[in-house]
Amino acid sequence: MLCRRTRRLQTLALAVTFIMVGLTGHSEAAVDFNKQIKPIFEARCTECHGPVKPKGKYDMHTKASFFKGSDGEAVIKGKPDESYIVELITLPAGDPDIMPAKGDPLTKEQIELIKTWIKEGANWPDGVDLKFPKKAGPPPDPLNTPGKPITDAEKKAVSDAQAKGALAMRLAQNTNWLRVDFSLHGKEIKDSDIAVVKPMTNLVDLDLGGTQVTDAALAHVAGLTNLHRLHLERTKITGKGLGQLKNLQELRYLNLYGTQVDDKSIMALAELKKLKRLYLWQTKVTDAAAKKLEAAIPGLYINLGWKAEAPKPKPVDPNAPKFTRAEIMQKAMKGGLAKKASEGKANKDELKLLLEYVTALQKHKAPKGDAGSWKAKTDVLVAAVTLLNKGDKKGEKALALGMDCKACHQAHKP
Ligand code: HEC
Ligand code: HEC
Repeated sequence: MLCRRTRRLQTLALAVTFIMVGLTGHSEAAVDFNKQIKPIFEARCTECHGPVKPKGKYDMHTKASFFKGSDGEAVIKGKPDESYIVELITLPAGDPDIMPAKGDPLTKEQIELIKTWIKEGANWPDGVDLKFPKKAGPPPDPLNTPGKPITDAEKKAVSDAQAKGALAMRLAQNTNWLRVDFSLHGKEIKDSDIAVVKPMTNLVDLDLGGTQVTDAALAHVAGLTNLHRLHLERTKITGKGLGQLKNLQELRYLNLYGTQVDDKSIMALAELKKLKRLYLWQTKVTDAAAKKLEAAIPGLYINLGWKAEAPKPKPVDPNAPKFTRAEIMQKAMKGGLAKKASEGKANKDELKLLLEYVTALQKHKAPKGDAGSWKAKTDVLVAAVTLLNKGDKKGEKALALGMDCKACHQAHKP
């Protein structure tokens, strides 16, 4: 950009010199715009400089936009050497700024025709528009158009909205499209306040986030058929009224996060075929329902927010003790099972269970004290109870000695 502006200044300086030495234009045979100029522009320029996302923001296809340029006049009638277009089409081939930006430079004859046409006053018959190729691909963004003419009702609606504390303004300088934001005074905004937006044909962006609105407010929004973005997050919307939005066929963005909408109510949105982004985190909507809605609207992306992953079940370690130390103490020791066994009073099942307890204790690490001492003490318990399980009475004495509460606690109980 900078370098182009500098160039423009250089051209101006040059042109001034030309004027000073008196080399201004003289009359020649008239160039016919329709027959000689229009075809050049249509063949080599409007592909990139049409009304839809024009390159360099320069739309050449109408008379007005052609002369206006994007950041200054593109053509100065009568003065080809001061005209920016001429500067760009006469740059050496390969220059990064040369126009057309693609393909061969214009021929010498074409350049001369354009210069002569400008010199003769750049006559462009009224009502003639240049043709531009309709590109396949995404449809033109309607927001690139100037919008509908603003009506008196709409003007009044804007000041009414402002009186209620809403931010209400044009989307951009040279457009009639409107943006209204009620979120700033959200706590004071009720359903009835929203009625002011009804006449706003040009309303494309409405923010009701964090207001007190309920499903009843949707009736005021239902007729805003140009609405592209709607914020309803953190409101009392339950979803019952979402079907009322079915006429908002331009809606691309809908935010319902932190509302009461659920799986059933969001399916009413399936009619909104242009919806691209739907925010549903902190709602009752499930993944399954979101997937279903995404399948119904091609190109839709639903944001369900961040969800904690379900904690992974710990891998089962086959060697991990079956019971905690405390469990073993409570059930086997304090509960008297070990004592019963050491007195020869435990039945088979009880002996089997006791073996599980002491085996588990053996697998635990000592919470305190020397590991060797712990191993010796728990080995004794396991050996004793194993004997008992085999019906060996020697196990009773061994167990009685091994289950010395005091000795083990002193060494190993924290
Ligand atoms: C292949 C696409 C392409 C074609 C074809 C093309 N242009 Fe451009 N034109 C561009 C791009 C891209 C820019 C913006 C360059 C930038 O901003 O750095 C541009 C910028 C311009 C600008 C400057 C707008 C500004 O103020 O920044 C003018 C004037 C212009 N082109 C004229 C023409 C003319 C006249 C033709 C046909 C002879 C033409 N262009 C053909 C891509 C094209
Ligand atoms: C082989 C060593 C050992 C023997 C024998 C032992 N204990 Fe323990 N006991 C411990 C350890 C180690 C702790 C601490 C457990 C912990 O911190 O996880 C403990 C803790 C306890 C607790 C507290 C449990 C809890 O709920 O936190 C009780 C009660 C208990 N023992 C009772 C007994 C009784 C009664 C006996 C004797 C019949 C006994 N223990 C024999 C090692 C032993």
